[in-house]
Amino acid sequence: MDQAESSDAQPRMPRIGEPAPAFEAETTQGDLRLDDYAGSWLVFFSHPADFTPVCTTEFLAFAKLYPAFKENGCELLGLSTDSVYSHIAWVRNIETVFGVRIAFPIVADAGREVARAYGMIMPAESGTEAVRTVFVIDDRQIVRAVLSYPMTTGRSVDEILRLVQALRATDRHGVATPAGWLPGDKVIVAPPRTQEMAEERVKAGDPDCRDWYFCLRTPG
Ligand code: BEZ
Repeated sequence: MDQAESSDAQPRMPRIGEPAPAFEAETTQGDLRLDDYAGSWLVFFSHPADFTPVCTTEFLAFAKLYPAFKENGCELLGLSTDSVYSHIAWVRNIETVFGVRIAFPIVADAGREVARAYGMIMPAESGTEAVRTVFVIDDRQIVRAVLSYPMTTGRSVDEILRLVQALRATDRHGVATPAGWLPGDKVIVAPPRTQEMAEERVKAGDPDCRDWYFCLRTPG
């Protein structure tokens, strides 16, 4: 049987710059479609299973930073292949045990249609559960960043928030951001594309230019 005929066949994972695959799905907050997020940024992330310890720590971290994501114009949407009843029981348990409310919706993708469309099922890791993926989707519903983590490693939600902030700074100011950049830090100015521009930069003697190709500036 070739891959197209196999019941495990799934579209490849959406890549940076491509439109995010449309979906309509049952969630803990009712049926939702990707289109419902048009005009907002979205972090769409999968976890392997409800009532598991690493996933619980991730949900606690996402819940803590949910207000910060919202301040950055970004919504959160979780997904696993558990049922909506399992999701409801788990978020209620998190609130009882940890005193933390999960205020963002979680897709119940028991049929795995959405997980397959996003390449969240990686059969060499698990044929039934989604691995830990993160899709940062912009307000035009374009995939701007993709992360994949194995079952056993919890993600850094601070880093996911930083990634959203960096992408938004790039769009706002037309700049790139250096390693470990945080809001308020200097940004990187696009390198010159001509020899003449490179020479002008060197002559200008800007202390934020370490060399013709490496210039920082304060955003804004
Ligand atoms: C966890 O979230 O703890 C977990 C989930 C799946 C496999 C291993 C760990």
